[in-house]
Amino acid sequence: MGAACDAVALMPAPPVTVPRATLAADASCRVGYDLAPARGAIEINNLSIIFGQPGKEFLAIDRVSFAIKPGEFICIVGPSGCGKSTILNMVAGFERPTEGSVTLDGVAITKPGADRGMVFQQPSLFPWKTVRANVAYGPRMAGLLDRDAYCLADQYLEMVGLAQFAGNYPKTLSGGMQQRVAIARALVNRPSVLLMDEPFGALDAQTRAMMQETLLRIWADNKTTVIFVTHDIDEAIFPGDRILVMSASPGRVVLDIPVTLRRPRSTDISLDRLFLSIKKRCLEIIRREILSAFERQAQASESNHS
Ligand SMILES: Nc1ncnc2c1ncn2[C@@H]1O[C@H](COP(=O)(O)OP(=O)(O)OP(=O)(O)O)[C@@H](O)[C@H]1O
Ligand SMILES: [Mg+2]
Repeated sequence: MGAACDAVALMPAPPVTVPRATLAADASCRVGYDLAPARGAIEINNLSIIFGQPGKEFLAIDRVSFAIKPGEFICIVGPSGCGKSTILNMVAGFERPTEGSVTLDGVAITKPGADRGMVFQQPSLFPWKTVRANVAYGPRMAGLLDRDAYCLADQYLEMVGLAQFAGNYPKTLSGGMQQRVAIARALVNRPSVLLMDEPFGALDAQTRAMMQETLLRIWADNKTTVIFVTHDIDEAIFPGDRILVMSASPGRVVLDIPVTLRRPRSTDISLDRLFLSIKKRCLEIIRREILSAFERQAQASESNHS
């Protein structure tokens, strides 16, 4: 990476979302990042989603409404099957609302777009491409010259601490390293929203803790809006500005709780009294939701047998 790297100035995204880390990496960037309005505001209004064919409909999401401010880090938790991934897929543009609306910066989301980056539980990298080529893929598809796309990829690989593995193939990296490549690949397109669906769910506890800290550091540098889905309450409280707790299916938001813990945060914040009280509240509600789902299932199976 060096002064010759002018890819940043060529990228089509509005300037406000240019990561500070990128600007720091290349002093030649000519970007007026403080002039444009912030991006990444999401509004979900009265959203319901019904899956299945007529006569066999299944209500997955039931009149969910919430708004997310640009740059907010929102975590969604809730029992399995409550619709967390469905909401992410909706914001990603993979699904369409049955009722209600989902907007990004005031515009209805109707399809996937480069303004939203997605990171899944499995890194889903191209196995035949090097790490560098995986990260450069998005910018190349956006029309950057190869030279600029690879230069940008190098900057983002440096941001996730993997610059020295740029020439490796994904299978030669650990799960945590692959997931860092996936994060770099999502961020290199400079999305206004980063959608993360249990991104660290497949990692061991130590790698997971390290990844949580890495993500928080990257977010502090980028200030992209993040929607982070997890089953792990600690993992939600640690980075989050807010936690949304969903009911058992059909999914509704039953708690929207701010996390006002000081920043920057390190893992020892999990001993803080506020952290523990938020955790207790979330766990109580999730437990209540799981129990009520079990009761409903038991009643349904009884009425089927009678
Ligand atoms: N494309 C689809 N067609 C039919 N049903 C679907 C579809 N996608 C999701 N569902 C159903 O909608 C419900 C919510 O699924 P979703 O994957 O969003 O849950 P989740 O909260 O992410 O669960 P988990 O925590 O296990 O990942 C589930 O009952 C699921 O079977
Ligand atoms: Mg899911």
